[in-house]
Amino acid sequence: MKHEAQSENRYTLERAKAYIEEHRHNVNPVYRLGYHLMPEVGWMNDPNGFIYFNGMYHMFYQYYPYKPVWGPMHWGHAVSHDLVSWSYLPVALAPDHPYDRNGCFSGSAIVQDGKLVLMYTGHVVTGPDKDKDYQQTQNIAVSENGIDFVKSELNPVIGLHQIPEYTSPKDFRDPKVFERNGMYYCVLGSNDDTGNGNILLYRSTDLLNWTYVNVLAQSDGTLGDNWECPDIFSLDDRDVLIMSPQRMPAQGDQYRNLHSTVYMMGTLDTDKGVLQYDEYVPLDCGFDFYAPQTMEDAQGRRIMMAWMETWESEIPTQASHAWAGAMTLPRQLIRKGERLIFQPLPELSKYRLAGVEQKARSVEDGTHDLGISGDCYELHAVFEAAEAQYFGLKLRTSEHEETVITYDVQERRLSMNRDRAGQGLGGERATTVDLHEGKLELRIFVDISSIEVFIQQGEQVMSARIYPDPNSKGIEVFSQGKCTLTELRKWDLQV
Ligand code: FRU
Repeated sequence: MKHEAQSENRYTLERAKAYIEEHRHNVNPVYRLGYHLMPEVGWMNDPNGFIYFNGMYHMFYQYYPYKPVWGPMHWGHAVSHDLVSWSYLPVALAPDHPYDRNGCFSGSAIVQDGKLVLMYTGHVVTGPDKDKDYQQTQNIAVSENGIDFVKSELNPVIGLHQIPEYTSPKDFRDPKVFERNGMYYCVLGSNDDTGNGNILLYRSTDLLNWTYVNVLAQSDGTLGDNWECPDIFSLDDRDVLIMSPQRMPAQGDQYRNLHSTVYMMGTLDTDKGVLQYDEYVPLDCGFDFYAPQTMEDAQGRRIMMAWMETWESEIPTQASHAWAGAMTLPRQLIRKGERLIFQPLPELSKYRLAGVEQKARSVEDGTHDLGISGDCYELHAVFEAAEAQYFGLKLRTSEHEETVITYDVQERRLSMNRDRAGQGLGGERATTVDLHEGKLELRIFVDISSIEVFIQQGEQVMSARIYPDPNSKGIEVFSQGKCTLTELRKWDLQV
């Protein structure tokens, strides 16, 4: 991934605003998504400060407006009434103070006395090698109106001297702040300085004075060398930690991306500062899903969004499109026993255009055109495996392109292959899926340059960016051996 070098500190909110105003019409429209959040112009990574405040959903994001590459981080800002249709607001934070001069890194938001408070990491480069020589501290910015933010005079509120022993002196970032039993807490991503990612817990009564509590969770050696973007919340009487382990080794089909995301369900003891849990589980099984963050909305729903990209890979729109990066669809998290299930929000259905529904059809050996097409739609398909060895769908097809979703009955393996998807990286991701009474149910969201597959009512999800030719719009079904496509419904979606 290309990085923008920083020469001098010249980043202000005013400059960002003027630049965006002047350049936002210059983005190439070809791969712009129809119903996902993406940057107006320039580069986007992690979701930050995701919150419901004064009747609106706010999403901030890691943002570099000036080029479609990662650079000194700002916080971009968008608001929505329904988490589907977004409007941009002015950039909320620029790296314009000594303690954040090389970037306002990821963080979160909380409401305190009717004000919107952001807590974020100030990134400072301290030597010639920007990848090795840096320091990170935690900082606060406050807003009355949810638009204009003032950085606290007391910043940093968690400084270098508050990094505990046996912890990395450098990787100390991404505060997620929350309230419990009348106290504020925040979790931070770090590592033990010997190659194991961990999460640190801090406590405060006022968001300004923080005390270190404990290492909340730590890699057992299988979970990567540094942990980023932690988030912890209670869901239906359990506590759930989500985080993004870096360089986690693959396990069979799982954790095949350079950096992964996982959740752990257990019990959080805030006095001791420990999360007790038994196992960790991937949050998404596709190619492009990182740094997820959640919030609780007015109806008490726990909703997660993530950066729908991955680090260290060239993104086709970086070349000459003037933008890169997008968020996933918002997904509601629901607890089902010891697992999470992931549901697309019902709000999306408002944006359905006229739908098509096909009768059940038996699928014989080979590939068959379904007579429907599109590049921005929701597709609901139910297969009855019957005697088939494998079956599936090909999407965004043309003579030269296809994105292929295959279920191998014997192996109980669902895969997504984008080797012939179009521009950009190919490859395959897969996960084990059990049929439900012989059936596989897929709810698929295709949006110009993305695909998200919700499997078996949201038991698992696979997300990926794809960059097909705009004319590759076909939808096909295939099988080896006989199966039945018992349900097929499609709606174009338009925001
Ligand atoms: C995760 C991350 C965070 C950091 C941010 C910088 O993608 O590396 O740990 O705060 O991106 O943009």
